[in-house]
Amino acid sequence: MKITYYGHSCFLVNLNNVNILFDPFITPNPIVKGVDLDSIKADFILISHGHEDHVADVEYIAKKTGAKLISNFEIVSWFSSTKEIKNTHPLNHGGKIELNKGLTAKYVTAVHSSVLPDGTYGGNPGGWVIESSEGSFYYSGDTALTYDMKLLNEFHDLNFAFLCIGDNFTMGVHDSATAAQFIGVKDVIGMHYDSFGYIEIDHESAKKHYESKGLTLNLMNINETITR
Ligand code: NI
Ligand code: MN
Repeated sequence: MKITYYGHSCFLVNLNNVNILFDPFITPNPIVKGVDLDSIKADFILISHGHEDHVADVEYIAKKTGAKLISNFEIVSWFSSTKEIKNTHPLNHGGKIELNKGLTAKYVTAVHSSVLPDGTYGGNPGGWVIESSEGSFYYSGDTALTYDMKLLNEFHDLNFAFLCIGDNFTMGVHDSATAAQFIGVKDVIGMHYDSFGYIEIDHESAKKHYESKGLTLNLMNINETITR
């Protein structure tokens, strides 16, 4: 599995011969430089919730790539009715879709809010559990720490997790480390930090806190690709 970071909560994950793009917020992100939207090859775009910092570049990339848009019913309906995007799949919490053979995406609970950029109701916010023969992971979306995360450990065998760590609007570093323990992963890729003032973090102290709990926090560079 290959993972490329485009800033904030946007990652491109290549696994089982498909490219999954999460929460594209690239062109308006002041800390993202040198990412060419036209070079992003997505087969699926998964959207956690309706906030601008998760959907800003969805329309452009969906139209450019023809990728299938997957999110909750409200968000998918909004993109298909106001943006003319027809290759979509709606689901809601607890629902799972097969992306290709042996690769599934399940929409799970997040404790947050969700409204679309024009004020339209964006349904309830979520995260994702991706399971495949190449490995499985959790993508938290924007969320507080919640006891429901223990369910992920109980019913899924996850290798790593993308967790929001920026505090203020979501979990901070300490709560996210607790989330990793709830989920049962030691390997965390941080997201939702540094893009704007409210969520700037100290990288070294964040990594140290994780180390003190026997966990690893990966803070990827923009455009960096890693393998898992
Ligand atoms: Ni949000
Ligand atoms: Mn956000």
